[in-house]
Amino acid sequence: MVKTKISLKSLKIKAGKEMLQAKDLKELDVIFKQYLGDNGELTLILRSLKDMPKVKKAKIGKEANELKNFLNIKFSEAAAALKEKAQKEAELKEWFDITAPGKKAVVGHLHPLTLVRRKVEDIFESMGFSIIEGPEMETEWYNFDALNIPKDHPARDLWDTFYLKNGFLLRTHTSPVQIRYMEKNQPPLRIIAPGRVFRHEATDSSHEMNFYQVEGLMIGKDISVANAKAIIQEFFQKFFGKSAEIRLRPSYFPFVEPGFEVDMKRGSGWMEMAGAGMVHPNVLKNAGLNPKEWQGFAFGVGMDRLAMMKYKIDDIRLFYGGDLRFLQQF
Ligand code: PHE
Repeated sequence: MVKTKISLKSLKIKAGKEMLQAKDLKELDVIFKQYLGDNGELTLILRSLKDMPKVKKAKIGKEANELKNFLNIKFSEAAAALKEKAQKEAELKEWFDITAPGKKAVVGHLHPLTLVRRKVEDIFESMGFSIIEGPEMETEWYNFDALNIPKDHPARDLWDTFYLKNGFLLRTHTSPVQIRYMEKNQPPLRIIAPGRVFRHEATDSSHEMNFYQVEGLMIGKDISVANAKAIIQEFFQKFFGKSAEIRLRPSYFPFVEPGFEVDMKRGSGWMEMAGAGMVHPNVLKNAGLNPKEWQGFAFGVGMDRLAMMKYKIDDIRLFYGGDLRFLQQF
């Protein structure tokens, strides 16, 4: 009996010490099994309990089971400590190859129509034009009447219009910005007004129900058709390159007199790119200017057309479809 008592006590001290000294989980496991494995020292004692006299069995049994619990707890503690130590070591060992090429972040880029708009703005700014914006939701007055297109006049049919329930409409062109600007600013003036316009039209490869225009307006004491042609030509050559060739072809717009269509040479034919003309005296009057004192020209260029010609795109709908296979080419 005395012998067993001493051996339980020394077993406890020895096992506790050994488990603390284990260098890794494998070693810890081996030590644990020396005491509580199939033939472990404590296992053997526990197994021998059944042959002991009753009193001794109760006493030794209690102590042996306490020791068993103690060893299980010590084992868990030691195991947790070893795991933490291993993890810390692994973290320290982690190695970065600073020469490996980095992963590139995916960044977006500008839409082709935005690229075109910025280029257009740069060119006109370099010729002394200011960049002005106007509202996309307009009144009939600014979109039509002030531009010399009276109600019920057949010329209104040139623009298929989205009329809104609130009495406004979606501007069919950027020309209303001419009026808005002249109302508030005294000539001489040079502006462009880029922006979105809307037409109630069926779509096809060259028509969309919303697209972009850039309006131009230059007013002074003696601004002439010659100035108009020079500025428009300069613009096209700066945009497409020196070889760009344009022509003015007589045409009709109610807000100019005379009026022109601006065509650009494309292969063996001509492509319609813009409308232009000398601002009609009624338009100047409607904006509060005296047509005997001031004169000038206006033009409206389709920016989608510019982009289609520049990037050789054959379908306007690609600009608005959101297809990344198309957009990522720019
Ligand atoms: N506003 C006209 C259109 O949308 C274009 C234009 C502008 C024509 C200025 C002449 C002068 O068709």
